[in-house]
Amino acid sequence: MHHLSVARRTPSRRGSMHDVPKELMDTIHELEKLFSVDINKMHVIVNRFVSELEKGLSKEGGSIPMNPTWVIGYPTGDECGTYLALDMGGTNLRVCEVELPEEKGQFEIYQSKYRLPDEIKVGDSDQLWDYMAECVKQFLIANHEGQDLSELPEMPLGFTFSYPCTQNAIDHGILQRWTKGFDIDNVEGRDVVPLFEDALQRKGVPVKIVALINDTTGTLIASAYTDDTTRVGCIFGTGCNAAYMEEAGCIPKLEHMKLDPKLPIAINCEWGAFDNEKLVLPRTTYDAHIDKTSPRPGQQLFEKMVAGLYLGEIFRLVLVDLHNNADVHLFQGQDIFGLKLEFSLDASFLSDIENDPWENLMEVQSIFENKLKISTTEPERKLIRRLAELIGTRAARLSACGVAAICKKKGYTSCHVGADGSVFNKYPHFQERQAQALREIFNWGPEIKNDPIQVVPAEDGSGVGAALIAALTLNRIKQGIHAGVNVKRKNSLIPPTHPCW
Ligand code: BGC
Repeated sequence: MHHLSVARRTPSRRGSMHDVPKELMDTIHELEKLFSVDINKMHVIVNRFVSELEKGLSKEGGSIPMNPTWVIGYPTGDECGTYLALDMGGTNLRVCEVELPEEKGQFEIYQSKYRLPDEIKVGDSDQLWDYMAECVKQFLIANHEGQDLSELPEMPLGFTFSYPCTQNAIDHGILQRWTKGFDIDNVEGRDVVPLFEDALQRKGVPVKIVALINDTTGTLIASAYTDDTTRVGCIFGTGCNAAYMEEAGCIPKLEHMKLDPKLPIAINCEWGAFDNEKLVLPRTTYDAHIDKTSPRPGQQLFEKMVAGLYLGEIFRLVLVDLHNNADVHLFQGQDIFGLKLEFSLDASFLSDIENDPWENLMEVQSIFENKLKISTTEPERKLIRRLAELIGTRAARLSACGVAAICKKKGYTSCHVGADGSVFNKYPHFQERQAQALREIFNWGPEIKNDPIQVVPAEDGSGVGAALIAALTLNRIKQGIHAGVNVKRKNSLIPPTHPCW
């Protein structure tokens, strides 16, 4: 079990600013005003977040989709067998074979990663599914050497497809909209399972999709498998989102199904869509620009301020803007062509800046020289470093508001939140800044030695979590129990059923 003892230290290292000239110092103060999220603002955001989570569960619905996933309850420990898991994230494709032995909490995993080429993210639908089917095929060939694929028994696959989907059953899902910069025609509004299964069939890959899973749901289930204090699963990576377990009786939009009110159903919040109405988030003109020029303007406004895909771009836009402002004298007299290409800086660029250990920020200097062909003065580097801190801290504090909102809504006063994703795992100080924000929101003073709600590194949700969910689903089918809407589903593993348990 993972345990994080949260260190009580200043969540970033600030060098001296005494040598920074007045106009740059004024600019730093402006940026601080623009990007800070103070405690009062956090309270406003958390309260609105709670009511938006509820609205998403209501019959009328709201901006946050709150998608029921048909993942029913936590793993029991009886899940065993060998499962395939396919993880289609924002950046990579990962194929895994996961073995769940008899002992609870144990697993073995073999995996291969494939890069998801950028052109596929904006290409056509068949190209995407064929590419993915080919990766699964190559994985099976490599892991079952000497065996003919056509002779292998059909393997159950948990497909982690981390985009908002409406699910009438666990092995189906209609894509609501692409996120994370994906823009592939003819998939939104369609069930992605048959689209992918057709491609698998075309390539003769002996695989059956038994569950379509969001990465956050996988994270929730995988973390709960090894740590039974887990109540929420989060991803802070290229995108940002959370899942938690809700009781059917608290989901008015499922009322017509007459489910047992105590039935636990994992909800994929899709909280990236929080505040699409632009009412409470402290958006800047840079956030507005990112949204306006994105493939889906007006969507995922919370995600666009918090997720890894956007952090480097926010930073780049600010620097270009400051350079264009003659009063600021930033990179004066230089051609900043290296900074002009959209989305050319990713979150790891900011991580490197924040990780520079030297007082005179020599590493920032060489990063700017090597990557952007821009030379910097020491005061400029201090501004650059402060800007990175501000953007990273804003992301951490806003994400804490989402975590706090779920805990408040559910009345959790102490629990673990399993979290995964590149920003959570790799961005310097993100975890401490997020923990600090939770302390402020819940008003935990220094007398509280261990934070009651802790966001801790999760188990592998898209691998182990997907396998567990596949196992849970097949166990239920064996027992003749199924859940889902009473509709005719072609090729569904879960037969149409009366909507009852
Ligand atoms: C997607 C979510 C996903 C999150 C993290 C968001 O863009 O809409 O489904 O969980 O990214 O990967």
